[in-house]
Amino acid sequence: MVAVASDDPDRIIHADNLAVLPSLPDGYFTLVYLDPPFNTGRSQARQSTRHVRVTGSDAAPPAASGTITGFAGKRYERIRGDLLRYDDRFDDYWGFLEPRLAEAWRLLADDGTLYLHLDYREAHYAKVLLDALFGRECFLNEIVWAYDYGAKAKRRWPTKHDTILVYVKDPDRYWFDSTAVDREPYMAPGLVTPEKAELGKLPTDVWWHTIVSPTGREKTGYPTQKPEGILRRIVQASTREGDWVLDFFAGSGTTGAVAATLGRRFVLVDENPEAIDVMRARFAGIAGVRFEVGVPASAG
Ligand SMILES: C[S@@+](CC[C@H](N)C(=O)[O-])C[C@H]1O[C@@H](n2cnc3c(N)ncnc32)[C@H](O)[C@@H]1O
Repeated sequence: MVAVASDDPDRIIHADNLAVLPSLPDGYFTLVYLDPPFNTGRSQARQSTRHVRVTGSDAAPPAASGTITGFAGKRYERIRGDLLRYDDRFDDYWGFLEPRLAEAWRLLADDGTLYLHLDYREAHYAKVLLDALFGRECFLNEIVWAYDYGAKAKRRWPTKHDTILVYVKDPDRYWFDSTAVDREPYMAPGLVTPEKAELGKLPTDVWWHTIVSPTGREKTGYPTQKPEGILRRIVQASTREGDWVLDFFAGSGTTGAVAATLGRRFVLVDENPEAIDVMRARFAGIAGVRFEVGVPASAG
């Protein structure tokens, strides 16, 4: 296992995340943010499944081969089986995500938080499965990121939001500092005192935020790039300066860019060479970022 230490460089790794994650040390990251792609293949999913050890008095019996028993010792397998029978397509997706979430959980510090960014098609299944996998008491929030851009459906309500599910490793120890978060304008400033209106209000779990503007400063050209404003809130609330942040579906590297701006440390992973090219350009002005290819030689 390769240790990450405070004097290590920030790292951007070009690899399949499932191959590289075992090389990172247990409990190192205060924040794991994941924005996985929805289109994943069955063959990839089936090859990747790993086991997770269960502890605790209400632990389920050992998992059947190729399945995961919930970290909190809940009867995850039965819930998983019941739920995934409804939707073959989601079964593929969850088969891909599950072993990666197991690694995310292992890598989270005791005061750490997972943010899993999903769209409306997968969010509800994922919520039920994550409740069983992490333990329902570890669920912190369902954040709705609402935007208003692009074509509008006429035969149903246009879908203009993403869902970010937030789970903590330990509900008694997680780090969350709402005072560190940028405040936002009141919707009806006339209803509060001028002092309050001036100060702005704390964001709730519904975040109105534009997508990355096609002509704006942030635009990298990477198709699924997320806005820095969304990541900024997440990093501000759930980490302190100097904490390590992990994003192993890094894409254009938004998580790392925000982490660097806020004085946090980061490890990013992506398997797509185009993502790595975009990140080389995006991090060109930031000193001390190390680019690596594949799994570190001493890993495993
Ligand atoms: C939705 S994008 C992430 C976008 C990112 N949040 C941003 O702001 O740019 C998902 C990324 O996951 C990467 N990815 C998919 N499967 C992967 C895997 N097995 N290992 C590493 N990266 C993977 C894709 O290449 C893609 O860049």
